[in-house]
Amino acid sequence: MSADVELQGVSIAFGDFYAAKNVNVKIEAGEFFSFLGPSGCGKTTLLRAVSGFLEPSEGKVLIGGQNMSGIGPNKRPTSLIFQNLALFPLMSVADNIAFSLEVRGVSKQARRKRADELLDLVALNGQGDKKVHELSGGQKQRVAIARALAVEPEVLLLDEPLSALDLKLRQKMRTELRAIQQRVGITFIYITHDQGEALTMSDRVGVMNDGQLEQVGSCYEVYQAPSTPFVATFVGENNAFSGKVEKVSKSIAKVNVEGTSFSGSVGRTTLGDPHPVGVGDDVIIFVRPESLSLAKGAKAPKNNFSADIETIEFEGNLKNIYLKSNKNKSIRFSVPSVFDTSDLTPGSTIELSFATESAIVLPSGPLALD
Ligand SMILES: Nc1ncnc2c1ncn2[C@@H]1O[C@H](COP(=O)(O)OP(=O)(O)OP(=O)(O)O)[C@@H](O)[C@H]1O
Ligand SMILES: [Mg+2]
Repeated sequence: MSADVELQGVSIAFGDFYAAKNVNVKIEAGEFFSFLGPSGCGKTTLLRAVSGFLEPSEGKVLIGGQNMSGIGPNKRPTSLIFQNLALFPLMSVADNIAFSLEVRGVSKQARRKRADELLDLVALNGQGDKKVHELSGGQKQRVAIARALAVEPEVLLLDEPLSALDLKLRQKMRTELRAIQQRVGITFIYITHDQGEALTMSDRVGVMNDGQLEQVGSCYEVYQAPSTPFVATFVGENNAFSGKVEKVSKSIAKVNVEGTSFSGSVGRTTLGDPHPVGVGDDVIIFVRPESLSLAKGAKAPKNNFSADIETIEFEGNLKNIYLKSNKNKSIRFSVPSVFDTSDLTPGSTIELSFATESAIVLPSGPLALD
């Protein structure tokens, strides 16, 4: 069984400070949904309100259409995996997994059977008799997942469960978590500050900033069509050029950036309508590093500018080229590693351009901090 989770106008205050502000979202039954945002933006606080460890100051949480107000964590159809896992190190793997069943009075034999089924599910077959302290980080992670699933929750809540693992293992566990979610078919609510994690696993992502949910959408939407400057710069890399609108026609805005005109597509609000930008408005035009190209030899040059190469960084599949514009603005340009960059040497000046359709114009607002 899987349930939907709805947050209706949820605000959570600690004294005068609001850690969550008017959060509205409906997470569908069986969905893998991630709340993505920087440290301190209120992710754990929101998850605690869903699990029942905390009551919202305003608004309500509904699970399976039922108002959860006043219902404690043990009475909710949720199970929470904490960041530090909170396993019992000296107990066997099977006893850890079946712990909550023991509390509920399930017989020893039935507990062991269920633990073995769950060990199969998380690819730890036959490891039930090991002690938890004998396991690797990734294996402990899987035990924590199995333990959380033992109570057959309708919604599994995961609070940055992979943050203690190294990069390779994190990537492997992402794929496994997604596969486990599809096998059990229940709702997963995952929180993370790692956009790579959110984008690879989720059906939809909610991007949070400072207690507010700035945008909810598919991974593709939040990356390709950010609604706010914060989302544009928190999810993936982006070059941001601030300027004033000179002209708007058919959702294309011409923007004056320190004397140079750039054109880009007007971004959409979270409701899906184009942002109402007009002549004279302060805006930011966003161009992803991979949307820039060398302007050399281009006919009818448009959206062109020159910049000086500072450094070139090799990142496996990509090369990142860091530049400074003549207005001393930092710019990042990336190309696939197979691209020949032998004539792009630090200190040289190159001409770059971008397609109008690949640039997004949004009303000015705060950017994500690097
Ligand atoms: N019990 C509390 N009392 C007072 N302030 C709190 C309490 N719990 C959280 N906060 C504050 O609320 C804000 C959000 O905290 P929260 O733990 O939800 O952030 P987070 O997004 O989970 O961050 P991280 O990614 O670092 O875990 C922070 O400023 C934090 O200091
Ligand atoms: Mg947290």
